[in-house]
Amino acid sequence: MKRLFIQTYGCQMNQYDSERIARLMEREGYAPTELAEEADLILLNTCSVRDKAEQKVYSALGRWRELKEKNPNVIIGVGGCVAQQEGENLLRRVPHLDLVFGTHNIHKLGPMVREAESPGNRPVEIAFYRDPAYMEDPEARPTVHGAKAYVTIMHGCNKVCSFCIVPYVRGRELSRPSASILREIEELAAQGVKEVMLLGQNVNSYGKTSGELSFPELLHRVNDVAGLERIRFTTSHPQDLSPGLIEAYASLDKLCEHLHLPVQSGSDSVLQRMRRGYTREEYLDRIRRLRERRPEVALSTDIIVGFPGESEEEFEGSLEILQEVEYDDIYAFSYSPRPHTSANKMYADDVAEDVKKKRLDRVLGVQEKISRRKNQARVGKIEEVLVEGPAKLGRSQMMGRTRTNRIVNFVGPEELSGKLTGVQIAAAGANSLIGELITAQ
Ligand code: SAH
Ligand code: F3S
Repeated sequence: MKRLFIQTYGCQMNQYDSERIARLMEREGYAPTELAEEADLILLNTCSVRDKAEQKVYSALGRWRELKEKNPNVIIGVGGCVAQQEGENLLRRVPHLDLVFGTHNIHKLGPMVREAESPGNRPVEIAFYRDPAYMEDPEARPTVHGAKAYVTIMHGCNKVCSFCIVPYVRGRELSRPSASILREIEELAAQGVKEVMLLGQNVNSYGKTSGELSFPELLHRVNDVAGLERIRFTTSHPQDLSPGLIEAYASLDKLCEHLHLPVQSGSDSVLQRMRRGYTREEYLDRIRRLRERRPEVALSTDIIVGFPGESEEEFEGSLEILQEVEYDDIYAFSYSPRPHTSANKMYADDVAEDVKKKRLDRVLGVQEKISRRKNQARVGKIEEVLVEGPAKLGRSQMMGRTRTNRIVNFVGPEELSGKLTGVQIAAAGANSLIGELITAQ
């Protein structure tokens, strides 16, 4: 059998796509390998959401040039968002590259690789499709790694956030038919999967463009899947955090008490320049309503610092919203201008890099205290943990996550992997909890 090495950058959507690629290529006679050096086919699944992510792509491709020089039969391909963004340019820029497949073209990979096997052929496929059939692969069965699985429910985004390249590289919103999503989840549950993460750029818009079920309706159906214990999803846009979705949090027992709700900034004027479509007060109001219906819900968010024109006062608005909401977790980024985006066309990237860096540090510093305090408040509580496997710390420690998505390390037997168990929280840091095993279910 030939060997396939895949390097994945970026979001969970890319990780899911890479699993799909591995499955498809297995049918073409490729077994996975962890070593690029022994691969016959090297694929890079890329991210272009920030400049740094894009730079990583070129350095990885640079490293693999030597492998191609040693063995010209090795095929090197690039997929994902940089592939979509750059298309043919990538072939010009990287002479040892053999093929480029865009975000809608994973299903074409088999024939593309065969084409690239003949010298001189360098196929590029970056078309977008309007029929969601391209997301389906009737023969492929989901591969299960442990008790958690990703399931993509939609592609693309119809929002117009001024900083974001995603709509340009992932296309317009397109929802998978609910019947095939539910079939996939049933198959996963039958194979022992306990938790699914439903993926999309803006899952609250699920079904809107295709007359399908609404997102809350889909959640209700997923909640009925036998054997499944936990449901998560990401990402949802605050503007579309509908009353129906808030009700789902109140009524669905499998929907985990965790919501990732990117706020991006705590300042109304920045939110407006970002074209996020909500004010700080509207955002806070949604959170209040959600907390009324499900008080124990944990919240996480994304923050961008150094958006064009961000003044000290506007930046402080972001620090304030962190204090006000008291998120459990945040992901903070320095703004980087992206091609095609309206912010890039309209504004100069005028916040100095050292100011961005200081703001990032301040945001992270404020959040660290909040996370630590919130984690410490969990000490003594009993939490349900889905055990993922041995902890990185080793020494008979196991690692799992609570329903609120906290990492818990605890001493326990390896047989607990993939199972739900009860732990009592004994100690807490900013990023994880330490628990003591109480019961195995
Ligand atoms: N669909 C998601 C976001 C996808 S991008 C949503 O609705 O929010 C993931 C995160 O990357 C964004 O939430 C944002 O915080 C960050 N991001 C996107 N574009 C960026 C840019 N140009 N510079 C810095 N951070 C960016
Ligand atoms: Fe990007 Fe905004 Fe969509 S952040 S993915 S354009 S909701």
